[in-house]
Amino acid sequence: MIQIVPSILSADFAKLGEEIQKAEAGGATMLHVDIMDGHFVPNLTVGPPVVRSIRKITRMTLDVHLMITDPDKYAPVFIEAGADQVSVHVEAARHLDGTLRSIRGEGAAAGVVLNPATPVSLLEDVLGLADYVLVMSVNPGFGGQKFIPRSLDKIRALDRRRREQGLQFAIEIDGGVSLENIGEIVRAGCDWLVSGASIFHASDPAAMVAEMRTVASNARAVRV
Ligand code: DX5
Ligand code: ZN
Repeated sequence: MIQIVPSILSADFAKLGEEIQKAEAGGATMLHVDIMDGHFVPNLTVGPPVVRSIRKITRMTLDVHLMITDPDKYAPVFIEAGADQVSVHVEAARHLDGTLRSIRGEGAAAGVVLNPATPVSLLEDVLGLADYVLVMSVNPGFGGQKFIPRSLDKIRALDRRRREQGLQFAIEIDGGVSLENIGEIVRAGCDWLVSGASIFHASDPAAMVAEMRTVASNARAVRV
């Protein structure tokens, strides 16, 4: 199912509850939470207490994106705090097979993330263990960056692989997603489209989510 997934990175953190309600009012059912440690990426965001607070105020699926150097140590902590799904970077996980298995073992969906410079081929041996693959369409660390078009080729390659191998993983994209490129992203085979600045910097975030959902489902209707 196609989803527009608001990323709270560009929300007003002083009014986080209200911002999340706006996303929900627009019809979003999944919320993206970016966790940055100042090491894997040159920025810092939030930790488990914030995820725990968000868990209390929404029933949306919490999609936690770990941009940290030690995903094995912290994935269980975020799951305990209320994450429904946790994604780890292939560049950060030393024992990716084990990491994905343990996330599933803790009862969450397991995702694997590719930076723009990381090829799809690196996932060859773990695609069967991933509930979703997240393709970064910007270099991670900041909201509001420009979409890297080459990411569309990765989406196509992943979509082809899951069809050829009869796999079920969802394909997610993150970075620079806006009304202008949603159509081509969905047509390339993407299922979940994360969007931060385009939603939370809009004058009416709820209306923006609703409009993005309409554009995405129209593109889905013509996808072959
Ligand atoms: C970037 C984060 C993204 C970010 C995307 O490192 O992983 O989730 O919020 O924001 P936009 O949509 O503004 O590019
Ligand atoms: Zn993210």
